[in-house]
Amino acid sequence: MKRYITSITYILAVILLAACGTPSSGTTGATGSGKWQSFSGDKRIEQRVDSVLKLMTLEEKIGQMTQFSANWSITGPVMSDDFQPYLEKGLIGSIFNATSVEGIRKMQQIAVEETRLGIPILFGQDVIHGYKTIFPIPLAEACSWDLEMMQRTAEIAAIEAASDGINWTFAPMVDIGRDARWGRVMEGAGEDPYLGSKVAEARVTGFQGGKDISSLGESTTLLATGKHLAAYGAAESGRDYNPAELSEHTLRNVYLPPYQAALEAGVTTFMASFNEINGVPATADRWLLTEVLRNEWGFKGFVVSDYTGVNELVPHGVAKDEKQAAELAVNAGVDMDMTGATYIKYLTESVKEGKVSEKTINNAVRSILEMKFLLGLFDDPYRYLNEERAKQNTMTPEFMETARKAVASSVVLLKNDNQVLPITKESGKTIALVGPLMNDSINLNGEWAGLGDRNKSIPILKGLTEKYEGTTIKLIYTEGASITETTPAKIAEAVAAARRADVVIAAMGEDFNWSGEAAVRTDIRLPEAQRELLRSLKETGKPVVLVTLSGRPLDLSWEDENMEAILQSWFPGTQGGHGIADVIAGDYNPSGRLVMSFPRNVGQVPIYYNQKNTGRPVDLDDESIDYKSSYLDTSITPLYPFGYGLSYTTFVINNAKIDKKALKTKDDKITVTANVQNTGSADGEIVVQLYTRQLVASVTRPVKELKGFQKMALKAGESKQVTFEVTSHDLAFYGIDMQKKTEPGNMKLWVAQHAADNSNEIDFWIE
Ligand code: NOJ
Repeated sequence: MKRYITSITYILAVILLAACGTPSSGTTGATGSGKWQSFSGDKRIEQRVDSVLKLMTLEEKIGQMTQFSANWSITGPVMSDDFQPYLEKGLIGSIFNATSVEGIRKMQQIAVEETRLGIPILFGQDVIHGYKTIFPIPLAEACSWDLEMMQRTAEIAAIEAASDGINWTFAPMVDIGRDARWGRVMEGAGEDPYLGSKVAEARVTGFQGGKDISSLGESTTLLATGKHLAAYGAAESGRDYNPAELSEHTLRNVYLPPYQAALEAGVTTFMASFNEINGVPATADRWLLTEVLRNEWGFKGFVVSDYTGVNELVPHGVAKDEKQAAELAVNAGVDMDMTGATYIKYLTESVKEGKVSEKTINNAVRSILEMKFLLGLFDDPYRYLNEERAKQNTMTPEFMETARKAVASSVVLLKNDNQVLPITKESGKTIALVGPLMNDSINLNGEWAGLGDRNKSIPILKGLTEKYEGTTIKLIYTEGASITETTPAKIAEAVAAARRADVVIAAMGEDFNWSGEAAVRTDIRLPEAQRELLRSLKETGKPVVLVTLSGRPLDLSWEDENMEAILQSWFPGTQGGHGIADVIAGDYNPSGRLVMSFPRNVGQVPIYYNQKNTGRPVDLDDESIDYKSSYLDTSITPLYPFGYGLSYTTFVINNAKIDKKALKTKDDKITVTANVQNTGSADGEIVVQLYTRQLVASVTRPVKELKGFQKMALKAGESKQVTFEVTSHDLAFYGIDMQKKTEPGNMKLWVAQHAADNSNEIDFWIE
């Protein structure tokens, strides 16, 4: 294809225009969605953006608002025949799924050297929990409550992906997840808005290299995406893409805070969610994407649709055809169309017809171009592409070490009768190792595992074999069952192994495809074949340690009654086997705490600790449930509550104190202190959790809300004081007038080990 301007001439033109400070008068100032405000607030960048904009035709502008997914051929990523012509005409702003330095270079070359304006392309990818080094799934990592670690794993993912030419990740997913049926809970940080907000901040900061936008130009960082705006996790019945039926109170008090935290951490892009709220699909929701996100919160980056989210406005039933869908989406505030090609096909005509203003288009394009400037792509479109750097920055020993620690700190010890765990190297035991996930590497990475090579992940069997090598521990391995099937012969073999052993470790759980997008389950127990195996193992009378791998909380009621120990290990990633072996052998004392409540059965779902009291609450000390908000056939409590997890030691929190009983509604704070003691015989870590409750307010408030936490390491026998500060601002919420403020009223707080721990209760009030 003929090239009209060389990129150097082009850059010179841009610099010249920028230096002259003569942005096109027709493209600045008031716009369809108000005056454009740059993300950076940097006048020089704004002028450079406008200088480019001035050179562009309407079609080229709409091209910048268009994103396509690359396909794969034997030689690497390619554009499909449908999309290639757009690339050649300079009508693509971003491509995703085009991995490998070589493949990306080819596409960037076409964009920069063979199109009229040579505008570089943004390369996106779902870098969710690692790129090549795969870390535990985000839900697991959140169970570590270790924000620094989560920031570091996001940083490493960014370093690896950016070395491969990627400069934009569609992460973090910050959707609150209260429904274990919904397969995408694996991608989030669980059910709590406070923790979810902290994790959102850590992950955005990790991907983007800090809060300073200059880190975006470092080519070891990625643009991050807060997704999926909004309340995608509230899908009715847990069915993916289903409407979120929820009040504006719940939306604002529970679901929106993590998105806002991502924004405050400097997130550069947001993704509109597939679902609808209040009858309006997010992709067409001007209230959400413009009034709330931009006008109320002050977001200045750009919004991308989800995959064909714009086209889907037609089946949703709010657009009669794709042209109307494109108009609705762009007018709502969606700046880039992911793969649907609706903008590029229809918006030129819509602008000519006056259905979309050119100012709206200009605003969107400016925001997209600005990110390209911030990434330094205009100065050097190939700056991310360097094979040598890609080799050096991939799966390094340091990354492996971080991944291994991340696994160990993410697993949650749910049960440990008779201290069956740890099984130390010196114990001299014979261990039967069974279960479909014991010698498996394929499932360990879980869903959304980037370019992680599933064959390279360390199976638990390998981790344990290496751990116990050279000791007197004896291991006998037999599979016993696949994920969904078993035979009498396989079970007999596993039972025989168990009989020869002192203890059994069974690695059981889900196939990795059973969680993630469009992976919803209505039966969240272990598959029958695995339960049959567990029943037979139990009959041997040998203690069974169940290691569960899953992308969601499971119904482990039977297992809780019948297994000696349960170690919830999620999908742990590349270093899974090593990290789990560290915990089993006691080289790492488990410190993970649940971030989603585990139900007693699927009928309790959605179940979460920060529920409302109702007018007829159940008194948990009173057996009577007549005319109470209860179930006839099970308790209202979860099997394991939010914040719960055991350790190889024990902790006591006592002597909780508050420095004053009354707090003003504005600009005031209380200081809460308590004594925390490691009362066992091993060094360990505790997550001390601070919960509050407002007893009376203009709207009903949750029975408990997390307001602070601290992960503390204590030596055996050691005591430390924990201190929390709670400000009046921390206690603000959206009340009856839908304004966020702190209301006067009686309060309680708890310094606790988990959400169902009612010890250390203190009364106070807001005046
Ligand atoms: C659809 C998913 O909902 C979204 O999270 C993801 O980023 C896109 N597909 C691109 O893969």
